[in-house]
Amino acid sequence: MKDHGSAIASGSEALHRDWDIEALRAETPGCRNVTHFNNAGCGLLTTPVLDTVLGHLKLEAEIGGYEASAARAAEIGEFHTEVAALINAAPRNIAFAGSATHAYANALSAIPFAPGDTILTTRDDFVSNQIAFLSLRKRFGVSIVHAPDSPEGGVDVAAMAGLMRSLRPRLVSATHIPTNSGLVSPVAEIGRHCRELDLLYLVDACQSVGQYPIDVAGIGCDLLTATCRKFLRGPRASGFLYVSDRFLRAGYEPLFIDMHGARWTAPDRYRAVDSAARFEEWEFPYATVLGSAAAVRYARNIGIEAIAHRTPALAARLRRALEPIPGVRVLDRGPRLGALVTFAVDGWEPQQFKAAVDARSINSALSFREFAQFDFGTKNVDWCLRLSPHYYNTEEEVDEVAAAVSEILHPSRDALRGPR
Ligand SMILES: Cc1ncc(COP(=O)(O)O)c(C=O)c1O
Repeated sequence: MKDHGSAIASGSEALHRDWDIEALRAETPGCRNVTHFNNAGCGLLTTPVLDTVLGHLKLEAEIGGYEASAARAAEIGEFHTEVAALINAAPRNIAFAGSATHAYANALSAIPFAPGDTILTTRDDFVSNQIAFLSLRKRFGVSIVHAPDSPEGGVDVAAMAGLMRSLRPRLVSATHIPTNSGLVSPVAEIGRHCRELDLLYLVDACQSVGQYPIDVAGIGCDLLTATCRKFLRGPRASGFLYVSDRFLRAGYEPLFIDMHGARWTAPDRYRAVDSAARFEEWEFPYATVLGSAAAVRYARNIGIEAIAHRTPALAARLRRALEPIPGVRVLDRGPRLGALVTFAVDGWEPQQFKAAVDARSINSALSFREFAQFDFGTKNVDWCLRLSPHYYNTEEEVDEVAAAVSEILHPSRDALRGPR
C-alpha cells in the first residue's frame, strides 16, 4: 500500500491526471467488502479520515474532552480554512453544522419572513427544503412559487428570472443536484439574476460538493449548505453553511443564537459575532470536525477538477450500460448530468429489488415519490433505484453493477440453478 502522499499527488492536479485508483482504494477500507455505489448517501471513509476521528476520540478518552479540543485547537480551525478553500470563500464565512438540513433550517431562520413574502424555488429543490417552505407558509403565510422546467429537464432559468422580476421574492432557493436524479442545476446562472436584482439566494450544494468545484463568488449566493459525508467522504453528522459578508453585514442572524454565536453584553442585550460563527453552536463534535477537515483536505489534494471529470464520467458509463437492458428506464434528464444514476424497473417492489442488489454486495439507495413529488410526478414513477459511483470506483465495477442489474431482471439459466 502506498502512503497517502503518493496515492494522492499533492496540490491541484490537471484535469486528465493519471489516476492511481488502486492506491486510492487501498486507503479506502470499505472497498474490500462492498461495491459502493451509494456515495450520494454517504461516501466510503478513507484511512486518513478514519485515523483522524479515532485518534481524537482516543485523545478525549485519555486527557478529557475539553482538554483534547484545547490541545488540537489549531487543527480544529483547519475545518474552516479547508472548507473555505474548497468553495472559494474566507474562513470567517464558514459555519460548521451537524447536517446540511440543520444548516439550511438555521439559514432560513435568519430571514424574517412575513405574510405576503414569496419564496421562489425550483421543482427540483430538495425534499426537506420543500417541506421547510411549506412549514413557513403554514406559520407565516408566505407563498411558494416553483419556476417551471425547460423541455429538456431542469429549471427554465429565463422563466425563473422573469418570476424574480415580477414577484421580487424574499428568497430564491435552488438545489445544485437533487437527491433523486443526476440533474445538475445551473446555480451560477440563477445567481447572476439574483445579483442583478439584489435578491437573497440560498443554494443547497449537498450532492455537488466534493463532486464538482463550488465557487460561491461565481455562484453569487448569500448562503450555501452542504454535508461532508457524501462526495467529500467525511464522517456522518457533519456539514457546513457558507454565509456571505453581504448577509452578515446586513445583520441577519439565526433565530436561536447561542453563547458561541453571540455575546451577552448586558442583562437585556446580546450582540451577534461578526463572522459566520453566529450560525454555529457552542458544542462541537470535535472528532467529526477534525475528520471532516481531513476529508476536505483529501479531496482537495486529489483535485476537485479531476474528480469532476472522472466521477460523472463513471456515471455516464453506467447509464450507457443500463439503458439497453430491457425493463430498465433510466430517469435522469437535463442538459448536464452528475454522478447520481437513477432508474425504474418493471414489475418489482422497491425493497425486493434493492434486496437483490444488496445480495450482490452492491450498495445502492431507493428514492420514492415522496422525495420528489414534482420530478417523479413528471416522470410518472413511484420509486427508483439510485446508483452513485465516485472516483475511487473502477470502470470494471461499473460494468459489473450494470451486469448485475441485467442478471437480476433477466436471470440466466445458470443463475436459476441456484447460488454459486
Ligand atoms: C440535495 C440534498 N440536500 C440536502 C440533503 C440533506 O442532508 P443532511 O442529511 O446532511 O441533512 C440531502 C441528503 O440526501 C440532499 O441530497
